[in-house]
Amino acid sequence: MRDADEGFGVYVHWPFCLSKCPYCDFNSHVRHSEIDEARYVRAFTREIATTAERAPGRTVTTIFMGGGTPSLMQPATVGAILDAIGKHWAVAPDVEVTLEANPTSVEATRFAGYRTAGVNRVSLGVQALDDAALKELGRLHTAQEALDAVAIARKSFDRYSFDLIYARPGQTTGAWRAELTRAIDEAAEHLSLYQLTIEPDTPFAALHASGRLVTPDDEQARALFDVTQELAAARGLPAYEISNHARAGAECRHNLVYWRYHEYAGIGPGAHGRLVIDGTRHATSTEKRPESWLMRVEASGHGLVTDETLTRTEQADEYLLMGLRLAEGIDPQRYAAFSGHPLDEARIAALGAEGMVERTEDGRLRVTRAGFPVLDAVVADLAA
Ligand SMILES: C[S@@+](CC[C@H](N)C(=O)[O-])C[C@H]1O[C@@H](n2cnc3c(N)ncnc32)[C@H](O)[C@@H]1O
Ligand code: SF4
Repeated sequence: MRDADEGFGVYVHWPFCLSKCPYCDFNSHVRHSEIDEARYVRAFTREIATTAERAPGRTVTTIFMGGGTPSLMQPATVGAILDAIGKHWAVAPDVEVTLEANPTSVEATRFAGYRTAGVNRVSLGVQALDDAALKELGRLHTAQEALDAVAIARKSFDRYSFDLIYARPGQTTGAWRAELTRAIDEAAEHLSLYQLTIEPDTPFAALHASGRLVTPDDEQARALFDVTQELAAARGLPAYEISNHARAGAECRHNLVYWRYHEYAGIGPGAHGRLVIDGTRHATSTEKRPESWLMRVEASGHGLVTDETLTRTEQADEYLLMGLRLAEGIDPQRYAAFSGHPLDEARIAALGAEGMVERTEDGRLRVTRAGFPVLDAVVADLAA
């Protein structure tokens, strides 16, 4: 099934950071020698061309430059990558072009250049508005520096968002309420509010395992989640996805492409894609290590290390997994079109009786506020 007219996203991964944050398991690398951006531009351009040959005729509706730290790129590098996308695919006149930025003063000086290059939305990794917490998270900026970067983003772009991490060690609901209130005062149309996750094989995982880093227990995490939902909604930023809040119409359209399970191309080291080729949905991923990705692209025009066709069941499961993160939920008929059979009504009834899921007036199925903290279990139950 091709998702005609449903949006086509291009994700571009910039895999470098100035330092590695101890909680982070994204594909990000620290290099002490200078990065040859011109060489990366050539490789991005080649991989875009190869991908467009496999998935021609699309109109790009969203572009997301994520990382790593894309705001370490020179504006000219960003411009060249956007030009390559425009050369190989049609681009919608109202295309959303987001760039992820770290909120330091150095990076904020590049915002005007990014806007000129074609970026129209930035997403800033503020993480906390508390200097002690920022230090504990291993961040290179202070709260004031982050707020200054937000102010520059506000002047430079019509649309900006920033990320905060909560459920941090020792965080009380009172302290989080005050911090989130301050954040909402600074926010415009969109905020991403993530609960701290202890990712395997990170320094935080080791500290956690040894008992030196203690995160809120389930009850406290739940209380922090409830504060987040209530406060953000009361201030006009309801959750449209489990961790993402926006005013109506200001949702990140690129992320909606993922969660609505539409098509997207993944470009750059360690990028994932979902492309419908000859009527079959492919799951793609590229080599993660930047230098190895470069060599692969230079040798063969792409960095693909996985290119698997998904079965109907796999597509249906992915659709559930992604779509149930959204407040709008999923369309049961689309699920049935993927899987070949309808959702199990008995399971829906049982989850409904427990207050975990509900039907909307237009027949969609969605997870309730009570169900979100146990979303994985709800999805597993419905998919089983
Ligand atoms: C690709 S990252 C980062 C963007 C940018 N490099 C930065 O750090 O400012 C996207 C977001 O994921 C969130 N994140 C990363 N690791 C996390 C974790 N272990 N738990 C919760 N949120 C996390 C952070 O809020 C981060 O801003
Ligand atoms: S959180 Fe951002 S800056 Fe920190 S290592 Fe991950 S991608 Fe890099």
